[in-house]
Order: sequence, then C-alpha cells, then structure tokens
Amino acid sequence: MSALIITILYFLLFVTIIILAFFLNNLYALLKIKVPYVATPVWAINYIINNLAFKDSAVVYDLGCGDARFLVALKKKYPKIKAVGYELAWWPFLMAKRQIKRSKLDIDLKRGNFYNARLSEADIIFCFLIHSVMPKLEKKLLEELKPGAQVISYGFKFPNWKTKEIIANPDKPNGSKINIYQK
Ligand SMILES: C[S@@+](CC[C@H](N)C(=O)[O-])C[C@H]1O[C@@H](n2cnc3c(N)ncnc32)[C@H](O)[C@@H]1O
Repeated sequence: MSALIITILYFLLFVTIIILAFFLNNLYALLKIKVPYVATPVWAINYIINNLAFKDSAVVYDLGCGDARFLVALKKKYPKIKAVGYELAWWPFLMAKRQIKRSKLDIDLKRGNFYNARLSEADIIFCFLIHSVMPKLEKKLLEELKPGAQVISYGFKFPNWKTKEIIANPDKPNGSKINIYQK
C-alpha cells in the first residue's frame, strides 16, 4: 500500500474519532447533564462585552462555559477582571482548556458541576443553559449572590425572577434574547 493511502486512512480514522467523541459527548450531556453544548452566538457575546459595564474589580462566572469563548472575549477586552468558568462535559472543557492556553489569558477554568460552586464572590454571572434547569439555578443564585450582583442569561428566563432588561438581536428580533437580572 502506498504511503498516500496509509496517510488518507489515518486521516479518516482521526476524523471519525473526533466525530464520535463529539457525538458521545453530546449524548452524555443530554442524558446526564441535560444541557447540550451549543455556543452563544457572536452577536450576543459582542453586545454584552461592548454595551454592559464591567469594572476592573469584577468577578465574572460563566456557568457552563462551553469552550470558554465568552470568557476569552471578555478577558481580552477587560484584562483586569477575574474570570471563572465551570464546565462539566469533557469535550467543551478540553476545547476551553485549549482556547485559554492559546489566548495566554488568566482564566480560572474548573471542570465540575456549577451547583457545587460557591457563588458569593461573583459580581456578574453569565449562563446559556436550558428551560428545565432554570428553576434550580434561580434558587441557588438568589440564595448565594450578594446584593447588586447581576445575572446575564442568554436564551432562557428564570421562572420567578423579574428581568431588569431584555435585549433582542437587532437582526432577528424574534430570536433568542439576552435576559439581565439584578439581585
Ligand atoms: C448551551 S452551552 C453554553 C456554552 C457556553 N456558555 C457558551 O457561551 O458558548 C451549556 C453548557 O453548560 C454545560 N453545563 C450544563 N450544566 C452544567 C453544570 N451543572 N455544571 C457545569 N457545566 C454545565 C454543558 O455541558 C454545556 O457545555
């Protein structure tokens, strides 16, 4: 067999393993974590970073940080903030690790369940999750956050907490929105 065919076979094997890992991770996320990995759209990240106020002293948590794209973009614009990301699923966690290493930014990435995090130091919480987990998270945030802390939830609302502001995508006004809460 020629070297070219062997190289192609190795490449196909590599691509298959990547696709399989991605598929298994999403299956695990759906069955166990019950929240699939879906990236926050660029318009929402850009809007939050360019229009909301982040003090240098702010402590910002991304609960279910995926590949850490939000925290990386935020730290690039506000290098002095403290950024903490929690991610339970392996695939996005490994992508986050790689992105953070490549960016050389100081981001505290934790592989673990954010329900085990103590959120009392957070000034701003970002999350993009799913309807079914919002009631439990709402309870935790209202119990643990300090007065004045803000929560930015992309796509999903808390069942009882009243929003301070709702921001729609100017190009898609009926699509998913940014919901902002303040304790
Ligand atoms: C819709 S994705 C959002 C990813 C990321 N925040 C972004 O902006 O691109 C939700 C992520 O939350 C993670 N997740 C869900 N529940 C979690 C939990 N209890 N603890 C840690 N991560 C969790 C999932 O694994 C998934 O990667």
